[in-house]
Amino acid sequence: MNLVVLNGSPKGNISVTMQFVEYLGLKIPGASLNILNIAKEIRGIERRPEKLRAVLDAVRRADLLLLAYPVYYMTVPSSYMRFWELAAASDEARAAFAGKRVGVFTTSIHFFDHTSHEYMRAVCDRLEMLYVGGFSAHMQDLTTEGGREKLRGFAARLTASEAGAWHHSRRYRRHGAPAGKMDLGEAGAHLDNTKTSVLVVADASRADSGLPAMIDRFSSNFVQPPRVVWLESLGLVSGCTGCLACAMDLRCVFTEKDGHRRFVDEELTTADIVVFASDIDTCFFTSRWQAFLTRLFFNGHVPLIKGKQMGVLASGPLSDYPHIRSVFDGFMGYSGNHLLDYVSDEAGEPHTVGRELDNLATALLEAKNAAYFPPPRFDAVSAHKLFRDEIFSHLGVVFQHDHQYFCKNGLYDFPTAQLGRRVLNRFLYLLLKTPGLRRRFYTREMVPGMVRPYSKVLERARLGRA
Ligand SMILES: Cc1cc2nc3c(=O)[nH]c(=O)nc-3n(C[C@H](O)[C@H](O)[C@H](O)COP(=O)(O)O)c2cc1C
Repeated sequence: MNLVVLNGSPKGNISVTMQFVEYLGLKIPGASLNILNIAKEIRGIERRPEKLRAVLDAVRRADLLLLAYPVYYMTVPSSYMRFWELAAASDEARAAFAGKRVGVFTTSIHFFDHTSHEYMRAVCDRLEMLYVGGFSAHMQDLTTEGGREKLRGFAARLTASEAGAWHHSRRYRRHGAPAGKMDLGEAGAHLDNTKTSVLVVADASRADSGLPAMIDRFSSNFVQPPRVVWLESLGLVSGCTGCLACAMDLRCVFTEKDGHRRFVDEELTTADIVVFASDIDTCFFTSRWQAFLTRLFFNGHVPLIKGKQMGVLASGPLSDYPHIRSVFDGFMGYSGNHLLDYVSDEAGEPHTVGRELDNLATALLEAKNAAYFPPPRFDAVSAHKLFRDEIFSHLGVVFQHDHQYFCKNGLYDFPTAQLGRRVLNRFLYLLLKTPGLRRRFYTREMVPGMVRPYSKVLERARLGRA
């Protein structure tokens, strides 16, 4: 079997993902692996048509494709994302990928690996590949027998797919066309933001992007025009390449080479209200956005954008790709921001889009003035717990800044650390083994007991003391 691996790790062959791929290859009888370092060589593929053609030749000859990559910022490395943008924009590439059987394989620490797989699956469907299955390995799984057993199972599935036994299905059927430019007019400045800085960070990939008009309409609500920064102006030389040199001293190797760090330090982290704006073209924000986001990794797992009122503007078929909301809700929720809403132009109806932009502007300023931050939801809560455990158990050795931040801010909040609670729980646990008490508790006491602590709070609230 000619198994063509499109490697999405910017580290090329010396990557965690490729160690797993080698193991998978060994477990597929008769497989010959052809690994193409897509992410590492993206510059050449982008600039030299013969390089892209060579990749497409290999794709055409493949019996099975394996899209293997590390999860980066809840999706993929920006260089890999760039490749899929190029492929979606090329007739030749679309023809080469259409009808190809494809498996998706990732390594990660399982932080939003599901959104990464959804993104990749959307891309597979967009290019009309035949998706036969995905596998999300924890980056340490290869070192455990349990992990290897599951990998062998995936190898068997891929083999079955080659024999045609594996049923594929299309999940993303709609890839809506962008609405194109619209005249959204102006709202009339009525929101007093003289004491509030509003920053819009934007990237457009299409000549007919609706973003400029959307940003103008949104901005026209404010007395002080928001600052608008187009990512192109930062001259990003690269997204994160996973070299991890930053873990030593919080400095990215590209710091001096472009405007990323200056912008982050001087503008992004100091604004009160931050709005992200992007074209939606190839199933996500643009790859330049992804380059920008992944470069925030110089600060490890410590959030840089925090305590902000936020919004998202999207030009393109946002609702065709629910993972986009999941990514930004999770990312911004984990960092203690309040992401109020998403506005897209996909309705294609200027009056509706304009009104939604006005509403977002008003809601953002109101939330800022009220200092309103809702409690974290499942995505943010679980994100915290996952990072906490990973940093405590092994990442904190390398990412020492993360470890110090977690210590200093009481973020190692394991339930096992609450000794008094554990002793009490043990006592109550044993008490509930007593037959008479047990019956009485489960049939009569439990439900009223659950609301008892709240009754006390409400009593105090009625007296204006809570
Ligand atoms: C910039 C960057 C972003 C990352 N983002 C995520 C993430 O969102 N979720 C996750 O579980 N792991 C994330 N990781 C961890 C990698 O997915 C993991 O270490 C992977 O095994 C690296 O594979 P590689 O050596 O093949 O590149 C990230 C790592 C880097 C360097």
